[in-house]
Amino acid sequence: MIKTQSNIESIKANLDKPIVLVGLMGAGKTTVGRILADMLGWPFYDSDDEIVRTAGKSISAIFEEEGEPAFRELERITIRGLLKNGRSVIATGGGSISVSETADMILENSVCLWIDASVPVLVERTAGSDRPLLKHGDPEEVLTTLLEKRRSAYMQAHLHILDDNLTPDDMATRILMQICEYLFEHNAIEDEERHIPQALCMTVSLFDRSYPIFIGANLLNDIDVWLSHEFHGRKAFIITDYNVREAVTDRFQAAISPYMKSVAVMELPPGEKTKSFDRFQVVVEWMIENGIKRDSLVFAVGGGVIGDLTGFAASSVLRGVEFIQVPTTLLSMVDSSVGGKTGINSKFGKNMIGTFYQPRAVVIDLETLDTLPQREWLAGYAEIVKTALLGDADFFYWLEINADKILEKTPVTVMRAIEKSCHMKAEIVAQDEHEENGLRARLNLGHTFGHAFENLSGYGSTLLHGEAVAVGLVLAARLSQRIGNLSEKDVLRITEHLQKMGLKTEIRDIELPEGTTVSEIIDLMRKDKKSNQDGMVFIVMTRIGDSELAYNIPEDLVKEIIIESM
Ligand SMILES: NC(=O)c1ccc[n+]([C@@H]2O[C@H](COP(=O)([O-])OP(=O)(O)OC[C@H]3O[C@@H](n4cnc5c(N)ncnc54)[C@H](O)[C@@H]3O)[C@@H](O)[C@H]2O)c1
Repeated sequence: MIKTQSNIESIKANLDKPIVLVGLMGAGKTTVGRILADMLGWPFYDSDDEIVRTAGKSISAIFEEEGEPAFRELERITIRGLLKNGRSVIATGGGSISVSETADMILENSVCLWIDASVPVLVERTAGSDRPLLKHGDPEEVLTTLLEKRRSAYMQAHLHILDDNLTPDDMATRILMQICEYLFEHNAIEDEERHIPQALCMTVSLFDRSYPIFIGANLLNDIDVWLSHEFHGRKAFIITDYNVREAVTDRFQAAISPYMKSVAVMELPPGEKTKSFDRFQVVVEWMIENGIKRDSLVFAVGGGVIGDLTGFAASSVLRGVEFIQVPTTLLSMVDSSVGGKTGINSKFGKNMIGTFYQPRAVVIDLETLDTLPQREWLAGYAEIVKTALLGDADFFYWLEINADKILEKTPVTVMRAIEKSCHMKAEIVAQDEHEENGLRARLNLGHTFGHAFENLSGYGSTLLHGEAVAVGLVLAARLSQRIGNLSEKDVLRITEHLQKMGLKTEIRDIELPEGTTVSEIIDLMRKDKKSNQDGMVFIVMTRIGDSELAYNIPEDLVKEIIIESM
């Protein structure tokens, strides 16, 4: 594959340290490590093999005769020696990185990648092996305990990959992508304009529901990069909308057809009104009529509307069929396609009916943005700003200094912004998949205000979701300032950045129905999903790049902020 070749060349030219693979026994470090080394033309070492060679006895014998501490010391010395070999691939024993001295040494002198796998897969792969730690007790229990014990140690690794369904070759290819990306992020690859990675990949880590997000140029035509073999030969159902059909879906359908048993396409009208009971019924019944099976594969090709509706349909038809998100708007790339929130609207409010149902993959092809109207593009950008404001001050600063490049849609800069947003969202979702501990709720920064404006404007084209969010962000910033969190200067920074990008920042600038009152806005905010029986809940910034949930905000203060902006 050409992309793999270019990743190999890039790594060979820019990495002068070993690649160290860590992870539990059975994760595939040795198998994948050998393939990686072969691809790079570098030597491969297995630290356990080296220990056996030096000690002249098996790992089990060392454990039994000398004990685990002695083995760990031998391991530390062995790994120290291996790290001195420079360019190479080293597979380490599962417990190596849980010894802090060994971990420090590995992290300082290599690019370290955690190959992760779910416990059932590990149990299957280690069955019948002679592993000392598996000699006593139920393997599933032992491996679960080990994983929990070592998780924080593995999490120190520079990179993480988890996908039980990949073949070792595919896993190696994916790792090459991730290393390339890591080198770019850490400026080992310096020429920014030159480096537009054709494909990069990150993992949303959710145990057995983990999935990859692929980001790249022309990815939809490069099926080999993202469509796992296990999906080949299945019946495919594509849901899309009229606008996307011509711009993207026809090409996509042609590209996947050779890999699928059959491909059926359903085209829906664009717009928020499509996220309805009626359309949901149409989609699900169309799938059934066309012979959908539990092993069929559903693709959502379009913006957030198509993604939310399709995800909901996939989660409920036949009690759940796998689906892949192929987002084609900036908003859906950075927000709605990642995280598994699916749903439709009800007459009582937006997204009132739905499920948490994770996709099997997200495939972001930057070229699909070429046909996206500028207004939609900007609305999506508001969600990128939101992500930076709620969780990463450096990212917001980066957006500020790269504003011109973003406005010019310089591909590499746009790709970075998408990547960073997806990465942040993936991390948040991994820690709070079902919005239970307050972390994921922070993604609603600006939305308590924004949803009220959207509702008032009737969810039509007069006010797009992202446009409402942009105004909501400014009001949330003012609220944060009034309760003593943000400085006036920071509020100004946020407002100026949104304005520079071409987004509206005041209620008076957006089109709300004639005669809208502050009470109407407040009433709608009370109905927001985040509100609880004690009143409205807001996400406030504690500073640029950090946020929290705020209860008990005086309603008068909220009114004051709204009135000032009307
Ligand atoms: N699930 C979540 O976590 C989540 C998060 C944020 C937003 N959302 C939802 O996302 C929806 C908004 O998504 P959206 O902004 O993508 O809107 P959208 O899906 O309505 O798409 C916007 C418009 O762009 C058109 N379009 C899409 N891709 C195109 C392309 N490549 N070229 C030309 N035209 C194209 C569409 O036909 C539509 O007219 C809302 O319903 C919102 O509730 C969901």
